[in-house]
Amino acid sequence: MLELGNLILNVPFMQAPLSGYSDYAMRRLALDFGAPLTFSGVMLAKSAAHPKVLRNPAFMPHDDEHPVGAQILGADAATMAKAAKALQDAGYDLIDLNFACPVPKVLRRRRGGYLLNEPETLMQIYDRVREAVTCPVTMKLRTGFDHSRRSYDNFCRIVSEASERNVDALTIHGRTVEQKFTGDVDWDLLAKTKNRFGKTTIIGSGDLFDPQTIAMRLKVSKLDGVSIARGAVGNPWIYEGLNAVLKGEPAPARPDLAEQAEVIGRHFEGICRHYEPTAAVRYFRKFLIRYSRLHPTPKKAQKALLAAKSKTQLLAAIEECYVSSR
Ligand SMILES: Cc1cc2nc3c(=O)[nH]c(=O)nc-3n(C[C@H](O)[C@H](O)[C@H](O)COP(=O)(O)O)c2cc1C
Repeated sequence: MLELGNLILNVPFMQAPLSGYSDYAMRRLALDFGAPLTFSGVMLAKSAAHPKVLRNPAFMPHDDEHPVGAQILGADAATMAKAAKALQDAGYDLIDLNFACPVPKVLRRRRGGYLLNEPETLMQIYDRVREAVTCPVTMKLRTGFDHSRRSYDNFCRIVSEASERNVDALTIHGRTVEQKFTGDVDWDLLAKTKNRFGKTTIIGSGDLFDPQTIAMRLKVSKLDGVSIARGAVGNPWIYEGLNAVLKGEPAPARPDLAEQAEVIGRHFEGICRHYEPTAAVRYFRKFLIRYSRLHPTPKKAQKALLAAKSKTQLLAAIEECYVSSR
């Protein structure tokens, strides 16, 4: 069980916000495979507060995907609060504040991970958002901006102040902003943080690629939950496997080719609801690269799938790689 304020999940994991990936199609598949909560990709608060943006179906939560969280990014507390309220009104069940993004353009605008350098501003944003909505409010952090003493002190101050204010949860990617995605994830620091701030719900993130490792991380770190990101791209089966392993059952075998084909097709049809077919094929390529890793001849499958330029060609390539080749 995982408590995020008044939102209670029956298993201790979720699908992370993944900009450019975690759209409705990916979120819906995650739910089908047993993820109890998913997120939108990060939205710029300035845009999310705009009624025109919220009328775009790609930004709206769908009736059949609750609970679903929205994540927002910004440096201005009033705009963040306005966006949070607009997203709650649009139907999102939880608001997550992004204080972790390491993208240089975001840092230059003093947003995302930059705010780990400014605990006061960060907490002001949290306070304004907290006042503006009734749903759970969580924060996404990294373990600091860099490895300096000052940065570590700022990190501890943020966790401590968030804990004093009974934040609904903190998700912490166990790397610094400066590290981006390189170097080891500091699970020891995450475990130490949980140990020190025991009453605060802390969710770990970083390099969670298979059910056994994820279950081990949860057990050793004693964190309340984990947030799965890259490990779920082109692999929604990770949730099924994790549910089994957490129940003490063996992880299911790799899905057979027929099942892979069915899921790839289902994911693609989900994307076609929001894109015209040729654009859908182009957008789906990054998922196909990941899906093809589960094929017995991954390079050959990837080449055939990526050669497709139209919806008809893609459906034929899926048929050829996954069905006719059996
Ligand atoms: C393509 C991509 C997009 C991401 N988008 C977001 C995002 O919108 N918001 C966020 O908080 N983190 C984002 N992340 C970070 C992940 O949520 C996660 O914290 C990080 O990838 C580490 O987890 P992993 O090693 O399991 O992927 C993104 C990561 C990737 C690779």
